[in-house]
Amino acid sequence: METVHTVSWMKQVAAEARKKERLLGFVPTMGALHEGHLSLIHAAQKECSPVVVSIFVNPTQFGPNEDFQKYPRTFETDRAALEDLRVDYLFAPPQEEIYPPGFRTSVNVEGLSERLEGRSRLGHFRGVTTVVLKLLEIVQPRLAFFGRKDAQQARIIRQMTSDLNLDTGIVVCPIVREADGLALSSRNRYLNEGDRRAATALYRSLRAVRDEIVKGERNAARLLAAQRRVIDLEASVALDYAEIVDADSFEPVVSLRNACYVLIAARVGGTRLIDNALIEQSGETFVVTL
Ligand code: PAJ
Repeated sequence: METVHTVSWMKQVAAEARKKERLLGFVPTMGALHEGHLSLIHAAQKECSPVVVSIFVNPTQFGPNEDFQKYPRTFETDRAALEDLRVDYLFAPPQEEIYPPGFRTSVNVEGLSERLEGRSRLGHFRGVTTVVLKLLEIVQPRLAFFGRKDAQQARIIRQMTSDLNLDTGIVVCPIVREADGLALSSRNRYLNEGDRRAATALYRSLRAVRDEIVKGERNAARLLAAQRRVIDLEASVALDYAEIVDADSFEPVVSLRNACYVLIAARVGGTRLIDNALIEQSGETFVVTL
């Protein structure tokens, strides 16, 4: 594996891959790698060669009161894991490579970026789309791989690539979970033992929604009430939002339709976690994927 620190070198690697008509796959991350990230890399390696993974803790997607300073940075362990997986290139630029002095441009996907995560984390998606656009311009991948764990992020990035006519296909991969259902996240390592146990409430609340759907419930308000009952039993879990939204517009729905997401964000102790389930119609029934 080659570790690339500069934009110019990364562009050279990308240009060579393009010249040889190789199918370059790209997995952008902020590091502190876990099985969720690794699943994206496996998916990329199935379809692409070479595969580029980036590690860049992007300051512009963190709010002033968020965890940019304390975000886990485990670079040497991450690099060893990528080496073991036989990733071809690790792109790990220092901050000033991506945001040199005088940097002033940003890109924003209107509307989609203002709801849900965007409302709780002002400016978050502007930071995400700006850095992802830059990374896609530098790496020039044929395919880029994202996790459904961040469903709104994936939807916004797909919109951006379509609106800006980028030549990168966006692949969205399933959520990887712990044995007890907790979605893997770099932030899980902030949880103490009690919070870690309570954190499964997000997953359990999504399962409660699935159980109601299996029983025939189609009404979003009643499904959300069932979800809420699970969260309310857990004193250390403070709900930020829970919504059932259309998978395309991310606007709330009144009753289930094809396709929707149940999205949840909550604070567990001091840690903000998100999770979701995908609901798809199959004939007369709805299939829920956690
Ligand atoms: P990060 O949180 O490091 O996540 C990198 C990728 O891993 C994202 O596409 C995310 O959805 C995916 N991922 C995280 N947890 C997952 C899980 N449990 N199962 C499956 N996939 C999972 O998302 C970001 O970084 C940043 O916003 C980034 C896109 C890199 C831009 O800075």
